[in-house]
Amino acid sequence: MKIIKIPKNRIRKLRTLSLGEKAYEFKSSNSQFQQNYIDLCSNDYLGLSRNIEVINAAYKTTLKEGLGSGSSRFISGTRPIHQSLESELGKWLNKEKILLFPSGFQANIAAMQALANRDSIIITDKLIHHSLLVGAKSSGAKLVRFFHNDLIDLEKKILKYSLSNKNILVTVESLYSMEGTISPLEEIAEICKKYNCRLLVDEAHALGILGSEGRGLSYGCKNPIDIISGTLGKAFGSGGAFLACNSKMGDYLIQTSGAFRYTTAISPSLAAGALQSLREIKSNKNWGLDLLKNSRIWRNKITNLDKWPVKGDCQILSLIIGDEDKTLLLQRYLEDKGFLAVGIRPPTIPRGQSRIRITIRRTLDLCILDKFISALKNFK
Ligand SMILES: Cc1ncc(COP(=O)(O)O)c(C=O)c1O
Repeated sequence: MKIIKIPKNRIRKLRTLSLGEKAYEFKSSNSQFQQNYIDLCSNDYLGLSRNIEVINAAYKTTLKEGLGSGSSRFISGTRPIHQSLESELGKWLNKEKILLFPSGFQANIAAMQALANRDSIIITDKLIHHSLLVGAKSSGAKLVRFFHNDLIDLEKKILKYSLSNKNILVTVESLYSMEGTISPLEEIAEICKKYNCRLLVDEAHALGILGSEGRGLSYGCKNPIDIISGTLGKAFGSGGAFLACNSKMGDYLIQTSGAFRYTTAISPSLAAGALQSLREIKSNKNWGLDLLKNSRIWRNKITNLDKWPVKGDCQILSLIIGDEDKTLLLQRYLEDKGFLAVGIRPPTIPRGQSRIRITIRRTLDLCILDKFISALKNFK
């Protein structure tokens, strides 16, 4: 076994939290010391994991269909709720085929393996999620990376490999999980069309919030996108994920993808919860816009402190601290003040870019922002 030596200051500890009383609160489960925290770190952006309709839908389906699906989709694990969710997601996103997966990590591996192989070149944004990198490596393709959101560098890399006679797959996220930046998707899709490259877009953090009525940034894109990957564990407040594509690609995935075939199907209760979340998102069309408006207010107020650069176009904001130890100090200080905001350090992000990443949620009101600002002001 290869032993990886982890520097002492990079050893991460798991933390156990319970839900607090307020919609945006956690509480520590330590019996000697109870503290409430304001959740500035989870991806439950719309608060749907605690939505009573969503919980009831999951509960009712669990009573009817059991807790787990008991086997893979091909054996006996496909329930009516899987088909209902796939069909409603397909109509919402205007996609011919939706395939559910137990997690976004798995869905991304499946997508990469379907679109690329040893005879392909995968060109990805430098900041794509780890699951896409694992997928790229497992596909056997050559992996090339372009500078974050840099269209010129993307085109340069495509041109470099376009004479190699290999298929090219471009992979991006629509809203980047660490930077909180939005990708210029329409332009990327246009470049892909120009050079006949395939395009995979991970909408994990955009779905439910960005794009027309929360359908993500791929929705309505003029140029083709081969596969969209979406997780149900973030704004949807449930768990599991899906790939959205055309029928031909979907049928190919069903027949060939090990990540789809050889895994226990997403639990009926999570599928039912996700379906109810979809219905909540459909009937509350302004949720995404409200969240973005709220996030802009947070961003402006933190920026006006003039203490650290703030990155992020949407509900994911990063206070760039730079130094790892100082980032940890700030994280602990904020915890003492009752805010759960996580320090992100290398190797998750490049050296010298350590940051406090905060996520804004729909249920946070502005008096919390005032408390947060005054805590930041007093940090020395
Ligand atoms: C951009 C991105 N893609 C995929 C995933 C994986 O999704 P899941 O949590 O459903 O496995 C994540 C979650 O961490 C993510 O941030």
